[in-house]
Amino acid sequence: MDMTFVLFGATGDLAKRKIFPALYNLFLDQKMPEKFSIIGLGRREIAHEDFQKQVEQSIHTFSRRAVTDQKSFKDFLGAFRYSALDVGRPEDYVKLLELVKQREQELNLPENRMFYLSVGPEFFEVIAANIQASGLGATKGWKRLIIEKPFGRDLQSARDLNEKLTKSFTEEEIYRIDHYLGKPMVQNLEVLENSNPVLHALWTNRYIANVQITASETVGVEERAGYYDHSGALRDMFQNHMLQLMMMIAMQLPKESSPEDVRNKKRMVMESLRPLQEDQISSQIVLGQYVAGEMNGQPVVGYKDEPGVAVDSQNNTFIAAKLWIDNYFWEGVPFYIRTGKRMKEKSTRIVIEFKEPLKSAKVDDSYVPNLLVIEIGPKEGITLQLNSKDRVSDGQFEPVYVNCYSSLTEQPEAYENLIYDASRGDATFFAHWNEVELSWMWVEPILKAVEQGKLPLQPYAAGSYGPQAAFDLLGDDQWWLDE
Ligand code: BG6
Repeated sequence: MDMTFVLFGATGDLAKRKIFPALYNLFLDQKMPEKFSIIGLGRREIAHEDFQKQVEQSIHTFSRRAVTDQKSFKDFLGAFRYSALDVGRPEDYVKLLELVKQREQELNLPENRMFYLSVGPEFFEVIAANIQASGLGATKGWKRLIIEKPFGRDLQSARDLNEKLTKSFTEEEIYRIDHYLGKPMVQNLEVLENSNPVLHALWTNRYIANVQITASETVGVEERAGYYDHSGALRDMFQNHMLQLMMMIAMQLPKESSPEDVRNKKRMVMESLRPLQEDQISSQIVLGQYVAGEMNGQPVVGYKDEPGVAVDSQNNTFIAAKLWIDNYFWEGVPFYIRTGKRMKEKSTRIVIEFKEPLKSAKVDDSYVPNLLVIEIGPKEGITLQLNSKDRVSDGQFEPVYVNCYSSLTEQPEAYENLIYDASRGDATFFAHWNEVELSWMWVEPILKAVEQGKLPLQPYAAGSYGPQAAFDLLGDDQWWLDE
């Protein structure tokens, strides 16, 4: 549907790396509306033409597809305008409204306005309030607000933020991006589970032994110490991305499902998640921090020696958790989740380990369980690990793999999927307030335990798979696929 896309933070890193390239690739795929206006906002004064040059540069540098058709690229860039805006100055919003209206008239656009806040969360409130106060939000068409995590830093601050935002936008108008929900393989989970009778039949606690969700990263804190040292793996990755992946794999959807069904089912997963008890927390949660180690044969410093990090920082760069979902489907099936920085490899994956009812067929230790491995990134793929007989080694079991990988270059990026969905008003792959609130509620006891010093940080060497305690957490089970 024809619209105006208003981008706050248009001179920032995310805009450059992700948002402009996403818009361009949507344009190439004819997924942008027929008519659209894009208005970038930033603190500095920049001429429209110079802003268009910045957009052009960002697309040349970061787009997954190169520019081949100069004429249509020029048309695309021609849709961009720029307006300087200080988020706290009401006059700047009035000026913005004039520009928005002028472009709506020039292009004969309906008053459909998408406000994308690619700025720090401390600005969400003031921007939302000014959009409302200036009349920008008083449209004859629709208005939508896109924001990105962090949505608060604990339950209370998340609730405060939400209360303020909902003064200017309704829940239906707020699109909270969790970019993991935009990843093609995450969007594929429902189809995988529901459109394959072979998997669907096994999708119960009768056959599944455990579910493992890993998001390991090789990067350290990079240049983000100012943010990360106060956030850590728990707030940066676990409360949002990891719990979202857990909801997506654990929800049970009806055959024909609407966005509301998806959100309801996700909420139900969170409501069934067994709350952490104070005296059990250390047997279910492991927090770690990397110390000096080696990555690809090169020495790397420990977290405390990273630029910008406090020398005595008690921040977590790793978390592993053991969770239980107390509902009919998942009763008795542990969910193991871990994520961390400076780990051996970059991999986001879900592994489903199946039970071994045929254990009697087991002749020796070469027997391995059936695994369904869903690789979400950086490469995407699905692998089923089966047992076969190896004739050479005298009938021992040998794992064989049924797998497929898709080529990433052909896949749309998360931001493309998400901007496209938001422009169509499809909120399926956005985080609903209920999910955000329930996630913070579940995480609260961990924050409390950290504050009380009840969860000592476990050191792990950079370049490893995390602290030993994260392996011990699994008891008789094991993390699969660590090399
Ligand atoms: C972001 C976190 O949300 O996700 C980063 O703030 C992290 O710390 C990133 O590196 C990981 O995303 P991806 O898509 O590379 O797995």
